[in-house]
Amino acid sequence: MSYIEFKNVCKEYKMGEITIKALNDTNFQIEKGELVVIVGPSGAGKTTALNILGGMDTATSGKVLVDGREVTKLKNKALIGYRREDIGFVFQFYNLVQNLTAKENVELATQICKDSLNPEEVLKKVGLENRMNNFPSQLSGGEQQRVAIARAIAKNPKLLLCDEPTGALDYKTGKQILKLLQDTARRENMTVLIITHNGAISPMADKVIHFKNGTAEKIEINENPKPVEDIEW
Ligand SMILES: Nc1ncnc2c1ncn2[C@@H]1O[C@H](COP(=O)(O)OP(=O)(O)O)[C@@H](O)[C@H]1O
Ligand SMILES: [Mg+2]
Repeated sequence: MSYIEFKNVCKEYKMGEITIKALNDTNFQIEKGELVVIVGPSGAGKTTALNILGGMDTATSGKVLVDGREVTKLKNKALIGYRREDIGFVFQFYNLVQNLTAKENVELATQICKDSLNPEEVLKKVGLENRMNNFPSQLSGGEQQRVAIARAIAKNPKLLLCDEPTGALDYKTGKQILKLLQDTARRENMTVLIITHNGAISPMADKVIHFKNGTAEKIEINENPKPVEDIEW
């Protein structure tokens, strides 16, 4: 059995008379420690898949397994526990608490987890040793995303899920963020999933999952993933 298994996952959103099939029989597998890029056009179901994997949304049918556990069967407390302990999430627009400093934003996340890491050490790892006491409004977009990544990593999660993490950043800053995510996956042997609509970055991944019309229509394995700094797009 793989570390992550998506088996025949469907997701329907009912909007009055209309039913939208966001996921239509999605299947894929991910191994522990893999760096995965999910690519595909807008509306293909990428965010829906990531949210179901992270326990932020529920599947209409099908199974999702993570580390032998059936996430699609979790309810209430077990689901809250799964999101808290096992999942680190990074969003396009950082989602930091504006009236807390960088360090306090990370501490807020670690306080709710059992097995968390030291906030200051993690902020050093993402290159923010000199910005710990700054508020988000005093940081650049790239620095705010580093805080968000530190906040996710500091929970010491099983999975780091990133939904368009460079979507709001310029080319050079986005590249630095992708390098940080690749380095983190390697150094911590963490399982990392990155959603993007920029297929050009896919050589950085161990595995590339192509989404189209609500399904994983093609899965590629890169035997020799490229360091982010060697990729141009
Ligand atoms: N909460 C929701 N309610 C209704 N429709 C939704 C909801 N979330 C997503 N959808 C629809 O499901 C489809 C897939 O969306 P999404 O997973 O966000 O795609 P992607 O991330 O690949 O752009 C789209 O047609 C979108 O409009
Ligand atoms: Mg999306």
